[in-house]
Amino acid sequence: MSNVATIATIASYAGKPVTLKGWLYNKRGSGKIQFLQIRDGSGFIQAVMGRSDVSEEEFEAAQGLSQESSLQITGIVKQDDRAPFCGYELQVTGFEVVSKSAEYPISKKEHGDAFLMDHRHLWLRSRRQHAILRIRATIIKAVRDYLDSNDYLLVDSPIFTPNACEGTSTLFETQWFDERKAFLSQSGQLYQEAAAMAFNKTYCFGPTFRAEKSKTRRHLNEFWMVEPEAAFMDLDGDIDLAEDFLCFVVERVLNTHEKELSEVLERDLTILKNTRKPFPRLHYLDACKKIQELGLEIEIGGDFGSPHETALTKQYDKPLVVTHFPAAIKAFYMKKDPEQPEYARCMDILAPEGYGEIIGGGQREDNLELLLAEIKRHGLNQSDFEWFLDLRRYGSVPHAGFGMGIERCVAWICGLHHVRETIPFARTLDRLSP
Ligand code: 4AD
Ligand code: MG
Repeated sequence: MSNVATIATIASYAGKPVTLKGWLYNKRGSGKIQFLQIRDGSGFIQAVMGRSDVSEEEFEAAQGLSQESSLQITGIVKQDDRAPFCGYELQVTGFEVVSKSAEYPISKKEHGDAFLMDHRHLWLRSRRQHAILRIRATIIKAVRDYLDSNDYLLVDSPIFTPNACEGTSTLFETQWFDERKAFLSQSGQLYQEAAAMAFNKTYCFGPTFRAEKSKTRRHLNEFWMVEPEAAFMDLDGDIDLAEDFLCFVVERVLNTHEKELSEVLERDLTILKNTRKPFPRLHYLDACKKIQELGLEIEIGGDFGSPHETALTKQYDKPLVVTHFPAAIKAFYMKKDPEQPEYARCMDILAPEGYGEIIGGGQREDNLELLLAEIKRHGLNQSDFEWFLDLRRYGSVPHAGFGMGIERCVAWICGLHHVRETIPFARTLDRLSP
């Protein structure tokens, strides 16, 4: 057997014999020549097998091979700009079937979304999903690299929690032994506040859970969120951080996946390339005014719906920051702006092109009395929050942070219609399997 290579590193084997281990992605051919599209997990390549290049048995085995059969294939790597996928081709000299696939349910024809999601465990093998999930991994790596290199310490927040963070209506409840109810975390933020008082700049990155009964293209019941938190930071500092962070992430993806974005996902890159600091910033009231000018109805004091976000963001060619939502519709921990106490010192970053909110955060209420009043107003149990209140009793400081949902970010960057494709196995109202 020749050197075992991967498709991702095939360029370094030009002119040389290699063996690839993978699966048959697709094929076409005649009685004289077979074009086998091979995938090995690291990439895709076309292998060309002439009848006279291999034994009669090998040629026939290839000719009758079903899609997704696993195989080992040997050949000479040839550079050819016209070759599909990667600019290299394999000229086959030997071929061995590892396991013949039964008739594969996902063919080249169009399938419905539900069918594909039912077969998600197989759909992951497609070139499109390959591109999306690799970009997801790059985004996660970029998020970590950015925070790690800007002195944010990774402090993992727990998943089981005794109390709500983002409102009691979307809590997933579990039983904590015989003792009490526990909840799956909606956000690691409250623990990051404790961590930031200990380490100054921290972040967590992990799965979060929301029992939202919404069936929109932006909602998952399990999603991954990155949440930085910093002591001695106000709302402006928080927005600066989020802007810099998001620009870094977008640039990293453009630098590493431009080809996949434009060729596989057919993403228009104009707006991504325009994602540079500073982003436009709008006060909630000004945003409402703009929404009204665009001909949509909005109740001043209420939250934005996705039609509002879509109409608003279409006016800009880069992400938009909306600040100062009414405190009354926001979470209990948000700091009221001392100059306009009906409004919270919070911000949402709305992605352009109708993708809506991808980042939410702001300054936290650091005053014990005001925080106590909010806990009461939200009907929360003070005793569940005593530990959190301690952070205001022992050396309280202004602090801020934000959360970015990885899937919303992937959906925007990849230009996907629905978040279900941005996560390996989506959990939504009507889907718990595969
Ligand atoms: O705006 P949210 O609810 O904010 C928080 O959870 C804060 N505690 C974060 C913080 O300040 N540390 O959620 C933050 C982000 C949203 O902007 C969105 O990207 C994502 O999490 N998100 C969802 N993503 C997918 N499905 C859902 N159901 C989501 N809910 C929120
Ligand atoms: Mg939000």
